[in-house]
Amino acid sequence: MSGVSPTTPTDPPVVQISGLYKSFGTVDVLKGIDLTVREREVVCVIGPSGSGKSTLLRCVNLLERPTQGVVELLGIDVTDPDVDIDRVRTHVGMVFQSFNLFAHHTVMGNLILAQRKVLKRSKAEAEEVAWANLRQVGLEDRATFYPAELSGGQQQRAAIARALSMNPALMLFDEPTSALDPELVGDVLAVMRDLALGGMTMLVVTHEMAFARDVSDRVVFMDDGVIVEEGPAAQVIGSPSTDRARIFLKRVLDPTHIDDSEIGETEPDEPAD
Ligand SMILES: Nc1ncnc2c1ncn2[C@@H]1O[C@H](COP(=O)(O)OP(=O)(O)OP(=O)(O)O)[C@@H](O)[C@H]1O
Ligand SMILES: [Mg+2]
Repeated sequence: MSGVSPTTPTDPPVVQISGLYKSFGTVDVLKGIDLTVREREVVCVIGPSGSGKSTLLRCVNLLERPTQGVVELLGIDVTDPDVDIDRVRTHVGMVFQSFNLFAHHTVMGNLILAQRKVLKRSKAEAEEVAWANLRQVGLEDRATFYPAELSGGQQQRAAIARALSMNPALMLFDEPTSALDPELVGDVLAVMRDLALGGMTMLVVTHEMAFARDVSDRVVFMDDGVIVEEGPAAQVIGSPSTDRARIFLKRVLDPTHIDDSEIGETEPDEPAD
């Protein structure tokens, strides 16, 4: 079975992206993206560097403003100029490659800050929520630590707990494990897997193909600003139907592999006699 939280087409969309274009000056980065993520669904986005994966995620919570197209979050068009984007953003948790914790706050401080400022929770209430989320990511014994006193994996789990403390309807992950030492990756992926099992709606950019294969309901392969393939992980990762996806996956799954098409068709020169 692909995915840990199977959804049906009748589950309400949490995010619905239609006809999304994004250009930076004359550089067209997203060239017509249509993508729907439904409640409890886990969608992994894979694709080569520069294909627009981060830009797509950043357009969802308006860290980038789309050039054209519509992004609806919980039925609200976030591109509408009248929308209170700060309010909309409270429904979206984002976890980046670099952990983005506030260095001068403890872990607990990091977890309660936005709860108090944005959600206006009391200190006691915010701390209660924070403890629950620290337990969920296995960091209840690190609440008083500063980020610099934590490993990368612990910092990333704290960043996830901070995002969860806002009770988001959607979690966006942008390569959350790619800055980690290999032995720390597993703990973070385990937390993400638990979240998926718990029914969190997730849009995840990752190079972790085993995670994408085992946890996602759907995999989206992007290249050059468009979605080239989309479907169950077994299909997109297991037997991709396009050359672009095949070449990318070969390279990711076996970094030492060099595809013939990348080095040209010509035979090596015969040694001179
Ligand atoms: N703020 C910006 N200004 C100009 N160009 C940008 C900006 N952000 C992204 N780009 C360009 O958009 C393209 C896509 O970038 P993006 O970061 O979305 O790719 P990506 O798929 O996330 O790549 P990676 O796997 O390396 O993270 C790149 O060519 C990048 O240089
Ligand atoms: Mg990126």
